[in-house]
Amino acid sequence: MPDAYILGIESSCDETGAAVVRSGEQILSNVVFSQIATHLPYGGVVPELASREHLRAIVPVVRKALADAGRTYALVDAIAVTQGPGLAGALLVGLSYAKALAFSLEKPLIAVNHLEGHIHAVLLEERQKGNRQVDFPVLALVVSGGHTHLYLAEQKGDSWSYENVGHTRDDAAGEAFDKVAKLLALGYPGGPIIDRLSTHGNPASIKFASPQIKHPDRKAPRSPANTRPRFDFSYSGIKTAVLRYVEAHHLAPAIEKRRTSLAGIAKPRFDDYLAACEPETLDLVASFQRAMVDDLVAKTLEAAQACDVATLFVTGGVAANNELRQRFEIESAQQGLPVFFPSRPLSTDNAAMIAAAAYPKWLAKDFAAMDFSAEASLPLRHA
Ligand code: KG4
Ligand code: ZN
Repeated sequence: MPDAYILGIESSCDETGAAVVRSGEQILSNVVFSQIATHLPYGGVVPELASREHLRAIVPVVRKALADAGRTYALVDAIAVTQGPGLAGALLVGLSYAKALAFSLEKPLIAVNHLEGHIHAVLLEERQKGNRQVDFPVLALVVSGGHTHLYLAEQKGDSWSYENVGHTRDDAAGEAFDKVAKLLALGYPGGPIIDRLSTHGNPASIKFASPQIKHPDRKAPRSPANTRPRFDFSYSGIKTAVLRYVEAHHLAPAIEKRRTSLAGIAKPRFDDYLAACEPETLDLVASFQRAMVDDLVAKTLEAAQACDVATLFVTGGVAANNELRQRFEIESAQQGLPVFFPSRPLSTDNAAMIAAAAYPKWLAKDFAAMDFSAEASLPLRHA
């Protein structure tokens, strides 16, 4: 297969990314500028601020990606960019810049679905390790701040197809981590800090009921034969259950005390967060994480069995979670199902995954017209 050096650009949420990847299998550079510091005071991503930060970062980030890769613009074969899903204003920054680059350099432009990017992050790293053997069908859990989606992924020649077999009906799993962290004055994003604090608490101390979904989803995409069962998630209930626990156990004064003490530290580190948490809060975050992991693992493995898949991918920001990885590793092995995760830097948003997902499209000459636009709710079906 011919080689291609693809410059990927990602700006769908709060990370500005640019990367150069060779033929979907070798990362030459991967630059990520995180906006965490900008959004931290608000406990979540503020879309307008995200767009402005992307505008500020996009040029230096792309230039650094090329410099790190030792490539000039002339030595790039195509420009790939995230078209959606994501924040419309944020997407437009990357997309406009990618269009301008492609137009002025007379290079092909490739539009990539962000979720497809997360799936290809796994394939990229496996190829980079020399593993070219992935058995199909693959079930991919894409679990992040904006998504909790299950896709059946198939490769036919150079083209990929994706069938959605489950999604969250309300909050995404990462969103639940972020909201619980905000409620408990643990900063933003919530996932990494809850992940680390959880090892200091007792995960069995509070029993959260597993999410129940009672009604069929009328908006669910239909499978071709219309017979496939759905494996949907729901995480707004557990977030409310944590709030109720906080109220019932009068944790508000402890939360305020923590907020004040952390506000007095310029850049709080993990030890500062740990010292600011009393045992009851540590037990609460550990129990919350346990409930999230139990549900994500159980539903995904149920779907894997029902769809009779050969391989499991777990990807997206929440895939960085230590307890989630360990549980998937143990329970997938019990089912005899190989499971693959991206490394932690490629689990969260990055542009290497966008450049990797673009390679099959480059082979198929599936290029975007100059008038294509951002799609905040872009569905993932076919590559
Ligand atoms: O994939 P990503 O970078 O952006 C989206 O596409 O949303 O995912 C970010 C999400 C945030 O909600 C963050 O709290 C969560 O991933 N996250 C984690 C961990 N690291 C990041 N959640 C649980 N455990 C982690 N270690
Ligand atoms: Zn993402």
